Amino acid sequence: MSLVEKFKELEEKRAIAKLGGGQEAIEKQHKAGKLTARERIELLLDPGSFVEIDTFVVHRCYDFGMEKRRVFGDGVIAGYGTINGRKVFVYAQDFTFMGGSLGEMHAKKITKVQDLALKAGVPIIGLNDSGGARIQEGIASLAGYGEIFYRNVMASGVIPQIVAIMGPCAGGAVYSPALADFIIMVRKTSYMFITGPKVVKAAIGEDVTFETLGGADAHAKLSGVAHFAVDNDEECINLIKKLLSYLPSNNMEDPPVVETGDPPDRMDEELNEIVPADPKKPYDVRDVINRVFDRGTFLEIQSQFAPNAVIGFARLNGRVVGVVANQPMVYAGCLDIDSSDKIARFVRTCDAFNIPLVTFVDVPGYLPGTKQEHGGVIRHGAKVIFAYSEATVPKLTVILRKAYGGGYIAMCSKHLGADFVFAWPTAEIAVMGPEGAIEIIHKSELMKAKTPEEVKEITDRLVAEYRSKFANPYVAANLGYVDQVILPKETRPMLIKALEAIGTKREIQPRPPRKHGNIPV
Ligand code: HXC
Repeated sequence: MSLVEKFKELEEKRAIAKLGGGQEAIEKQHKAGKLTARERIELLLDPGSFVEIDTFVVHRCYDFGMEKRRVFGDGVIAGYGTINGRKVFVYAQDFTFMGGSLGEMHAKKITKVQDLALKAGVPIIGLNDSGGARIQEGIASLAGYGEIFYRNVMASGVIPQIVAIMGPCAGGAVYSPALADFIIMVRKTSYMFITGPKVVKAAIGEDVTFETLGGADAHAKLSGVAHFAVDNDEECINLIKKLLSYLPSNNMEDPPVVETGDPPDRMDEELNEIVPADPKKPYDVRDVINRVFDRGTFLEIQSQFAPNAVIGFARLNGRVVGVVANQPMVYAGCLDIDSSDKIARFVRTCDAFNIPLVTFVDVPGYLPGTKQEHGGVIRHGAKVIFAYSEATVPKLTVILRKAYGGGYIAMCSKHLGADFVFAWPTAEIAVMGPEGAIEIIHKSELMKAKTPEEVKEITDRLVAEYRSKFANPYVAANLGYVDQVILPKETRPMLIKALEAIGTKREIQPRPPRKHGNIPV
């Protein structure tokens, strides 16, 4: 073969590889409203930056006539490139070849980029679209999944791992995304479940559709498995890019600082109006968040799941922070099982990736009832305390209104290591709410009352007394548990200055040597 012929051969092989499972399968993919793996990578990475590796990998299975079904790439495209100039490693499963199913060599391509990303200290992005373990390859497929999971765990907290579910993701295959930092799901074309509708029907007789069982909204709203649900592939890719802009490349770096043009000394008069005078009236804590942080920078995460807590990334004078807030509009902002999980996981994500935490508190306590108690609200609630205590990033807390009991402690109080705690004049920081407190302290006095009117009169008087004496920020400020009482409009400049002051934070007390803590899971 002449040199010219050899070069031509390579070009021809490349062209074949580009077709994946073939033109017909590509058209089927498009008809299903999905982009192909290559189109997705092209959209995701900076133009011309993608460098593919393992183009010519093929499977080595001879069972079930598989020797006749061999295609370059083996149903997954892998490589590296840049997103807004930052290096990333990427893999995208190619549904056009055997439904993107994962066999031995397919898995090896994924583990290769996982290893490279971890060594380089660079984020890894997975675009999943797969029928799961390649059944013809049997146990070799399972081994492949195991190898991927192991690397997901090794990379956890070291490099950001983002997985987009852009097609099927079933059975044990769900655990690679589940071990990553963020999952984005595309509505209508993607689903995740351990056992599909057919098995559900056979096992327990329940009729359920793919979408209801494991569609994007099911996981974004109900299970909390998905951090985001989007409408199509393009939206999904854009969100990955946005999410990445809030994350460092690895745990040894800080997230990129961006000039946002929002003045650091900007005071917002309207913040003074947001918390109603009546402590029973709700308000939307997102109005506070949107006014305090750099305009337009708040990216809410898990917005539909456990909406009694709000979490997300934002920028404060250009620096990335993780925002945690109680949401008085839902269950009066109570903590419960799901919101505890949501907060604890997010706090740990931020801590792993050097993202300072800003916590807004308006929490009357924990949601009562057998559903919560028997569901393990004690165990789940403990995670919030664990995560905040464990976090060594700068921790800033603003108490907007209620901070009662265990909720006060758990929501990044001074006692769990908050570096600065600010309170608005509307703050009520006490061991419990006035109504509950006086029922206990003044039980005998209330029992002496002869008529319901008399009970009400005594209760109202005692509640008012308790409220004026204890339901304020000053008792905590007297004790130094609150560092400063501030006007709501001063919140932004105060937080920016606090972050400047403590941004270089280093732990002064070494933590006890141990293998790892034992967070209640
Ligand atoms: C081998 C597979 C496959 C698989 C799909 N294909 N899944 N081949 N192993 N797991 C092939 C199909 O045979 C078909 O091949 C092509 O991919 C496209 O699939 P279609 O069925 O035509 O596509 P669609 O109608 O869109 O349906 C997609 C699907 C369905 C819902 C994913 O293919 C399906 O149910 N597949 C099986 C899913 C499954 O049970 N996976 C679990 C495996 S066990 P042709 O030749 O027609 O093009 C598992 C455990 C993992 O994953 C444990 C890890 C720890």
